[in-house]
Amino acid sequence: MAVGIFDSGLGGLTVYDAVAAALPEVPFVYLGDNAHAPYGVRDAGDIFDLTCAGVERLWDEGCDLVILACNTASAAALRRMQESWVPEGKRVLGVFVPLIEALTERQWGDNSPPREVRVKHVALFATPATVASRAFQRELAFRAIGVDVEAQPCGGVVDAIEEGDEILAEALVRSHVEALLRRMLKPEAAILGCTHYPLMEPIFRAALGPGVEVYSQAALVAASLKDYLARRPGFRGPGSRVRFLTTGEPARVSTKATQFLRRKIAFDAA
Ligand code: DGL
Repeated sequence: MAVGIFDSGLGGLTVYDAVAAALPEVPFVYLGDNAHAPYGVRDAGDIFDLTCAGVERLWDEGCDLVILACNTASAAALRRMQESWVPEGKRVLGVFVPLIEALTERQWGDNSPPREVRVKHVALFATPATVASRAFQRELAFRAIGVDVEAQPCGGVVDAIEEGDEILAEALVRSHVEALLRRMLKPEAAILGCTHYPLMEPIFRAALGPGVEVYSQAALVAASLKDYLARRPGFRGPGSRVRFLTTGEPARVSTKATQFLRRKIAFDAA
């Protein structure tokens, strides 16, 4: 029954919350690679190796399907994993697809020519590695025309969240939003393109001001996973226990997770 959720650290818990609410009967096993976070400042080879190690650990927990609840891993490693690494009978999915589908108002498999879409000015906030990969812009360009994407690499935010330093994280978010708004005066939509950022969503919203639609990646991923499992029930793996695992220090990670989610979460050593 189990499905795995992987992130470099605490951010994937925002996705976990949404998928667990949408699929209450599924036991999810969460793995945060806190010992190696942040991924956003690493190179693609490093991100690939770390993500593969994390996904293998989740396979050991009986999860045949693993969701990379990490935009950085989805942008920098997922394609290579799917093309050359994921064995028969296992699946690894990322968090980009549902977001691109929502923005471009079409299904991923729709190969018709790109067309105009409703949202024309998009602010993308993501880690330096996600921004550098240009994966988001590339996937968008296959499907939509005339969309202007302004990307802001939000250095430092993930570190501050992982350290539990909310004051620093808030200050950094404000300065990154200000920097983006100097280049794009009136975004219509904002993508919080790192699963850590919803933990700071009120700060993003306040800094962006009214009239900017903030896309909720977690809710989109949850709806998409529900649909996927309904179509492919065989990918519910044999595991039956809900677990929170970390490569970091379990007591410390549990405290930070509890602080950010404002409810008790207890991690075990991976
Ligand atoms: N939460 C991750 C993401 O969505 C990872 C960030 C990081 O480790 O830098 O990109």
